[in-house]
Amino acid sequence: MTEFAARVEQVSISGIREVFEAAGEDAINLGLGQPDFPTPAHARRGAIEAIEEGLTDAYTSNKGTASLREAIAAKYDRDYGLEVDPGDIIATSGGSEALHLALEAHVDPGEEVIFPDPGFVSYDALTKLADGTPKPVGLREDLTLDPATVEDAITDETAAFVVNSPANPTGAVQSEEDMREFARIADEHDVLCLSDEVYEKIVFDGEHRSPMEFAETDNVVVVSACSKTYSMTGWRLGWVVGSTRRIERMLRVHQYAQACASAPAQYAAEAALTGPQDPVDEMVEAFEQRRDVVLDGLEDAGLEVPTPDGAFYAMPKVPDGWCDAVLDRDVVVVPGDAFGENGGGYARLSYATSMAELKEALEIIDDATKAVR
Ligand SMILES: Cc1ncc(COP(=O)(O)O)c(C=O)c1O
Repeated sequence: MTEFAARVEQVSISGIREVFEAAGEDAINLGLGQPDFPTPAHARRGAIEAIEEGLTDAYTSNKGTASLREAIAAKYDRDYGLEVDPGDIIATSGGSEALHLALEAHVDPGEEVIFPDPGFVSYDALTKLADGTPKPVGLREDLTLDPATVEDAITDETAAFVVNSPANPTGAVQSEEDMREFARIADEHDVLCLSDEVYEKIVFDGEHRSPMEFAETDNVVVVSACSKTYSMTGWRLGWVVGSTRRIERMLRVHQYAQACASAPAQYAAEAALTGPQDPVDEMVEAFEQRRDVVLDGLEDAGLEVPTPDGAFYAMPKVPDGWCDAVLDRDVVVVPGDAFGENGGGYARLSYATSMAELKEALEIIDDATKAVR
């Protein structure tokens, strides 16, 4: 007997934290994966009022309150013209738990999960924790995921592929044409398309489309959250949408691991989704202005960087020693290889920080880039 499960031994704690810890106290942090805005006041009030009315003292339904799931269903109708039954939604503890449920419910031991590399760190780890086999695939030059790459990687052992748009760590947004292709691939190969849409509202040019809009089968499962859209990362509220049979399987995991998402967070999320959306628009506008400043700054420093059309990240190609040179000058960035092997030679910069700090950081980056060239 071994002391710990093999699947846990395969996973290590994310290296991103170490970067923060290595930086000085006054460092400018371009490493953060969360918006630097307050949660909208009406969302906070939704929780406060529910607490004061005594609505949050007990478990909710395992799937979440009916009114939250109705608000989520209404959002899919409003945003994508998708008719989602509130019964086909589970409110989760952030998008993270939703990803976990989807993989636990669909991946058998040894089955493959295809995901973008560089990509969000959880896809690899959660695949291993589901006893699956990670199958990272590279990106196009513009850092989007090519549906043809995914299709080529599919084997008889493939359980699922992950699409993430807008993407962490690249900020890349997949086109509608790509999303239609992902839906077709899920349909034709009968594999699950797990669409991670937590950044769905943070898009600068055009709009986010979901493969769920285009699929003819129930082979698309969508994960999203309040975390990024409403700057609610600390509240831990996300959800998963899928067909009745898929949701029923995911609920088996959620019911025993979580019982239900935190009740105060559910009421805050409901208020966020049903209240005014201006705070989201204002945040996205601010991110777009910062994106433009960051792109200009990186290009002026002589770095090649694909234009990120969403989220709040930029991913320039960087010369050897660049990340260390920048970190030594007290600007925190995350080396691209923290997001997969193909991330080597890139760095992720988050612009979820003030314009003043960004401008200061860009001057330091310019200096560091000259030093390593
Ligand atoms: C692509 C992506 N998916 C999912 C998550 C998880 O989000 P949450 O905070 O809602 O668990 C993150 C968080 O950084 C992310 O970047």
